[in-house]
Amino acid sequence: MFNLTVTERCHRILAEYIKEGDVAVDCTAGNGHDTLFLARAVGEAGMVYAFDVQKEAIENTSRLLSKSGIDISNVSLICDSHANLADYISRPNIIMYNLGYMPGGDHSITTTETDTLKSLEIALDLIAPGGVISVIAYPGHAEGAREMDSIKSLLSELKPDKFEVVTITQDNRKNAPVLFLISAHHDL
Ligand SMILES: C[S@@+](CC[C@H](N)C(=O)[O-])C[C@H]1O[C@@H](n2cnc3c(N)ncnc32)[C@H](O)[C@@H]1O
Repeated sequence: MFNLTVTERCHRILAEYIKEGDVAVDCTAGNGHDTLFLARAVGEAGMVYAFDVQKEAIENTSRLLSKSGIDISNVSLICDSHANLADYISRPNIIMYNLGYMPGGDHSITTTETDTLKSLEIALDLIAPGGVISVIAYPGHAEGAREMDSIKSLLSELKPDKFEVVTITQDNRKNAPVLFLISAHHDL
């Protein structure tokens, strides 16, 4: 739990909930680390959909997957906004968001409050009973802070008989990233 990056912490927690054969979505492919994590976790019987608005991110993800040597026939890389999630997927078990900009890429291309909120509302609608959504938000830049506040207020309105929302952050570090975990109840 301690001495981990926020993404490592997120992977460790999600690993407890992902099953082989699951359908998983990476809503922000970036350099592909989350997509690779999901592809390994769902195995050859599962399916992974990974979205990014940047062609470069899709290429980086494709390269990382190829280098890893895993079977990529069950990974679909989609160069589109995660706001269009519903056009591609019906009932995923796991949905991940790692917001902000692509490390090593163009920092002006970042997730936005508008698209993220739209996508998250759709994700909450699509998620399978018993499924989990993770969102990592970075409040250290202006758009990230707005995005995080809106996410918080959306999640705080969710009915507790349908979803459980858990938030993990480091309280003694300024602008620490925030990990939101949303579990959909089995009788959703
Ligand atoms: C922090 S990076 C993701 C890191 C990535 N998951 C990894 O493991 O390397 C955020 C990514 O979100 C992408 N992005 C921004 N707006 C988006 C949108 N509307 N839909 C999908 N991806 C978006 C950016 O292009 C960027 O690559």
